[in-house]
Amino acid sequence: MSKADLITFDDKQQTFHLHNDQISYVLGIEDGGVLAHLYYGQRINHYHGQLKNPRLDRGFSGNLPGSDDRTYSLDTILREYSSAGDGDYREPAMIVRQSDGSRSAMFSYDKHTIINGKPKLNGLPAAYTQTKDEAQTLVIELVDKVSQLKLALSYTIYRNRPVVTRSVQVINGGTETVHLEKIASMAIDLPAGDKQVISLPGAHVNERHVDRQDISFGTKVFQSRRGTTSHHMNNFIALVDCQTTEQEGSAIGLSLVYSGNHKEEVSKDPFGTYRISMGINDDQFDWLLVPNDSFQAPEVIMTYSNKGLNGMSQALADLLQNRVARGKHQKALRPIVVNNWEATFMDFDEARLQPLVDDAKDLGLEMFVLDDGWFGHRDNDDSSLGDWHVYQQKFPKGLQHFSDYIHQQGLKFGIWFEPEMISIDSDLYRQHPEYMLRVPNREPSPARSQFVLDMGRKEVRENIHQQMKQVLDNCPIDYIKWDMNRNLSDIYSNDLPADQQGEVMHRYVLGFYELLEELTTEYPDILWEGCSGGGGRFDTGMLYYMPQSWTSDNTDAVARMQIQYGTSLAYPISSMTSHVSVSPNQQTGRFTSLKTRGAVAMSGVFGYELDLTQMTEDEKQAVKEQIAFYKEIRPIIQYGKFSRLINPEETNFAAWMFVSENQQDVVVFSFKILSEAQPAYHVLKLTGLMPNKEYQNIETGQIIGGDELMTTGFYEEVSFEDFASKIYRFRIVEE
Ligand code: DGJ
Repeated sequence: MSKADLITFDDKQQTFHLHNDQISYVLGIEDGGVLAHLYYGQRINHYHGQLKNPRLDRGFSGNLPGSDDRTYSLDTILREYSSAGDGDYREPAMIVRQSDGSRSAMFSYDKHTIINGKPKLNGLPAAYTQTKDEAQTLVIELVDKVSQLKLALSYTIYRNRPVVTRSVQVINGGTETVHLEKIASMAIDLPAGDKQVISLPGAHVNERHVDRQDISFGTKVFQSRRGTTSHHMNNFIALVDCQTTEQEGSAIGLSLVYSGNHKEEVSKDPFGTYRISMGINDDQFDWLLVPNDSFQAPEVIMTYSNKGLNGMSQALADLLQNRVARGKHQKALRPIVVNNWEATFMDFDEARLQPLVDDAKDLGLEMFVLDDGWFGHRDNDDSSLGDWHVYQQKFPKGLQHFSDYIHQQGLKFGIWFEPEMISIDSDLYRQHPEYMLRVPNREPSPARSQFVLDMGRKEVRENIHQQMKQVLDNCPIDYIKWDMNRNLSDIYSNDLPADQQGEVMHRYVLGFYELLEELTTEYPDILWEGCSGGGGRFDTGMLYYMPQSWTSDNTDAVARMQIQYGTSLAYPISSMTSHVSVSPNQQTGRFTSLKTRGAVAMSGVFGYELDLTQMTEDEKQAVKEQIAFYKEIRPIIQYGKFSRLINPEETNFAAWMFVSENQQDVVVFSFKILSEAQPAYHVLKLTGLMPNKEYQNIETGQIIGGDELMTTGFYEEVSFEDFASKIYRFRIVEE
């Protein structure tokens, strides 16, 4: 028996209702075939038509062409998707330059189909389904009758998740070539209210702060023009009510499944109506679309929660772990690594690294990662990007000799690549200077002394692919860290004519995805980790290819509290790698205890990044214990339910917790940042427990009810030190 439909079309009302047990999304066709937004939020059983857009004659908001109804204007109704030139003066979701030079288009409903499951997006990462029953997809086709340009708006609703995904395809069904100047992946208008927007701004070594602000009149833009997601503004936003907290209230999360330029526009018009759109940034974007060709915009994942921000993050994390991440390591326990970067930087050779490997083995670590500096003739960041063959002087017996040594110690072997880059001092540049992004007759702009390859070009990708293959086929490698240490500039491709230079940045991302798809398919056993100078490309697009990412180049425990807190808003803990590094910290100069560094790093995918050989025997013993402890709690951390409790940016404390998948075990991390002379007693309250069960504190043996842990909380021990940490473990008492 087939399962109940998730999408219903009411022919009489001309409305679509996407629904499951948790959410409803309602849209309708109004006068002029305009697709109107009607409702998005908590589930309703049936929609009875009460939200049809009210009519009012509002001055200076024009009316439908050919109509004398002054009460109906595209400028004032709640819409699903708008184009420039149709009389709606708000931010358009798309702009098309027609062959006559105008930017006019008037899209109206043509037809729709409802399909089981969720079709793939050609060449782009996207959430997927495993069975056709799991979701349904509504595709609504709109057409601009004059140019015969068509928009196919796709909406997928999952059966058991509060998730709707949206994307847009443009099809040129006409006879003229047009230019897409803007094409958002989704847009939505929401009724007037008291909404706020949360974004994740930051910088290198300072990523993803939780920034929450009122949505006031005008337009607020969150964006990256850097050719990549960026450290500076993640491609995730949340829309919340003023009263929404971590535990309560409604929240809508919007994630763009994409790793390039992005733009999120959040506006409030003079009547209080909100308009939100998200997609590829229109800055430097201009896509030529010839007749019969189509353009696919990336996907947006929309997550609705009425259980606060934690509910939103949990639903999103579950989708990302189970229906975006793929491959052998998607749900596998991730190895505890030691990475040599902060230990040696590029100053190493095989002899220098071997004692680190020996110590790693003794301490119980599981993988050794060889970072930057093993290839070409790379001793500093001035050279060799593009020359992916082993640096003979550092590894005189070859890379395989070192890899074998590591494997003989029972460890896995991981290695670093930065495949999208080129150094001027490289054989690749000497042979193919034209592979680099560079505007003719202009001096290109270096960053970290390096330049960017034109990943939109097939021959460039093939060259890098073959070089990487040479390494991977000749040396057993278990893990790859794929780095990207600068943003794109000098946007010009030798491969494209002048009127297509506006395609370079998106073609870069498409080419990059194609290479990732090929390599991850060819080497399915490798665990791939994304990185871009830390968290510069931490996004859901990358998760489709690589289940984890280096969260930040800042390994300072206190800075990481905030970075990981913010990152957890939009990404699963299993995707956030986090390492213990040396104290004082190399990025901030701060001294923190090994205990606190361990507690922060253990709140993610755990590892070390320091010179193990320089540690005292006591420190080594402590590290051994941390590793053994993490191995015990690893499944709870990586695949349990995560909740944020206290935001370190708002208070002198930080806290978060994990509940195991079987709900039996609870691990809580609590931090006090600065010590005080006469501190108030601090009460910690938990969340997400079973109120009618009792829990035992594993350390003290004390039994406390789930309701008490969540409602009364408990006093924390006072500690007189800066950056103090405490890990609590509770287990359900069997009846
Ligand atoms: C930036 C990364 O985030 C670091 O971990 C390290 O891999 C360096 N690049 C190496 O150049």
